[in-house]
Amino acid sequence: MCGIIGINSSKPVSSTIINSLKKLEYRGYDSAGIATLSKGEINEIKSEGRVDNLEKNSLVQSMEGTIGIGHVRWATHGLPNSINAHPHSSQNVSVVHNGIIENSTLLKKFLVGKGHKFKSQTDTEVIVHLITENLKTENVVNSVKKTLKALHGSFALGIIFKDEPNLIVGARRGSPLAVGYGPNENYLGSDSYALKSMTNKITYLNDGEFCIVKKDHVEFFDEEGTKVNKKVLELSSEENKYDKGDYKHFMAKEIEEQPTTLKNGINEYIDKTNNDINIYNLPWKKDEISSVTLIGCGTAYHSCLMAKYWFEHLTSLDVNVDIASEFRYRKNRFKKETLYVFVSQSGETADTYAALDLCNKNRMKTCSVVNVIESSIARDSKFVLPIHCGTEIGVASTKAFLGQILILYILALKLGLLRDDISKNLFVKKLKDLTKLPDLVKKTLMTDNKIQSISSTFNDAKGSMFLGRGFSFPIALEGALKLKELSYIHAEGYPAGEMKHGPLALIEEGMPVVVLAPRDDYYKKTISNMQEVIARGAKVLLITNKSKDEIFSENIWETIEVETTNEDLLPFLLTIPLQKLAYYSALKKGYDIDKPRNLAKSVTVE
Ligand code: F6R
Repeated sequence: MCGIIGINSSKPVSSTIINSLKKLEYRGYDSAGIATLSKGEINEIKSEGRVDNLEKNSLVQSMEGTIGIGHVRWATHGLPNSINAHPHSSQNVSVVHNGIIENSTLLKKFLVGKGHKFKSQTDTEVIVHLITENLKTENVVNSVKKTLKALHGSFALGIIFKDEPNLIVGARRGSPLAVGYGPNENYLGSDSYALKSMTNKITYLNDGEFCIVKKDHVEFFDEEGTKVNKKVLELSSEENKYDKGDYKHFMAKEIEEQPTTLKNGINEYIDKTNNDINIYNLPWKKDEISSVTLIGCGTAYHSCLMAKYWFEHLTSLDVNVDIASEFRYRKNRFKKETLYVFVSQSGETADTYAALDLCNKNRMKTCSVVNVIESSIARDSKFVLPIHCGTEIGVASTKAFLGQILILYILALKLGLLRDDISKNLFVKKLKDLTKLPDLVKKTLMTDNKIQSISSTFNDAKGSMFLGRGFSFPIALEGALKLKELSYIHAEGYPAGEMKHGPLALIEEGMPVVVLAPRDDYYKKTISNMQEVIARGAKVLLITNKSKDEIFSENIWETIEVETTNEDLLPFLLTIPLQKLAYYSALKKGYDIDKPRNLAKSVTVE
């Protein structure tokens, strides 16, 4: 969350910083700012809202300086306005910060006592004043070292100094930070995405490290200030991947890309020659794993819930699912026969990373399912299963959700086979069905027109519910999350059988309710629950799969039929109309679909 860029060059840097900030906007878009060093002074310009607002400021156009830092903010402390926007500067120092300083109140008290004057409501400003204070007695490296030691919490920092016009300092604890290497210039970035347009040579800082970025070289230090040598990684850079093409929004493009991204995932993991799944290099023997714990946040958590049903269906493993922010502070009973699986699109989510770190510290078996293979979660897990679905820019996750559940399904199948929980025949049949999935998703994507008209009813209602049982329950949760995050409509996902235990009281005349009732083992039960909400006045949108059997229920408001496949795979197809429902609701309301209010793509604060 929040994005950092720093450039040390021999050319003016302001326009390159602005362009990089535009790329980083998916990490936060409450406000943006830039600071450069020129003529022995720190110049700082900030604005509320998007990077466009900053760019329009005529002073930015004429901003001089060959060294500078920039930031896009997702507010944690203080309102999202231009005063609280980063960089924060004193006369001597300017700082951009991702993360949260937990002891900022105490530090501020101390610094006010020393005569420092604060302008903003942010926690970040204490870092500026603390470095400024330490600079009275220490050189740059020691002042930074001393400051970092005094900070509690998490941070990625970019710092420039009035009296050191040749360097940018970067530091990391908790929040990710990368260094990039260019021709006669070097960079600092909160992720490789912002740096990719300038370089594919990257070094990631480890927790506790800091660095000095000069034009021609970069030095790295550990917490104690001892120099460390770091590897330079070469990344593949395909800029055109990030283009919206003819689509109005990245989200629309990412929804439509799903047949291709699923196909990519399937091609990567299915060994057609041997009718097998090519996860041949699991670092643990099958007898060393007796249970699986799946951990994630938001949509990734829903993927974990989905996987629980599949693992229980296809294997005899014990399965637990946890929300990362809960897991990390729970009194966990770590078991060495448990495989801990971390699911994260970005691979940088702070809570998921902390849960992984905790498992690593307890010497557990850790595996991650990620989209960004260079991410912290991928780097620090013992085994990585990439989802291969390409960069996802829309803040609301769509293709990554299908990518995550695809890989989790594949893992469940593989473990089921390895443990002899399912027969080779059944396994091969399921693989065959899986290879047909991308085409079925493609056909299901064609139910467009109906959803566009249905979405108005959701927009006019004061709330809505999404119901499902069994395999469809996690999809109901995901459908409700998509609608609330994009359309700002209250939406609840519930197991259909739970309604009578309380939530049924919410149903009133005309309330739109989505019922997911594919023809699986739960079908009849879900249809009964649907009748209970119809009887209380709900307008039911039934989502089921095509079948020659008639649906025996009256007064269904609308029905959408997805394609037909085996019951394991129906959740993929049910997801499609729900993604589109959320998309069209937000489109009709005129909301910013790729950047919904108050959210950010990569949640690097806890
Ligand atoms: C919702 C959404 C979020 C993320 C969550 C975890 O559409 O995208 O709920 O799923 O913030 O993010 P990752 O997967 O990057 O760990």
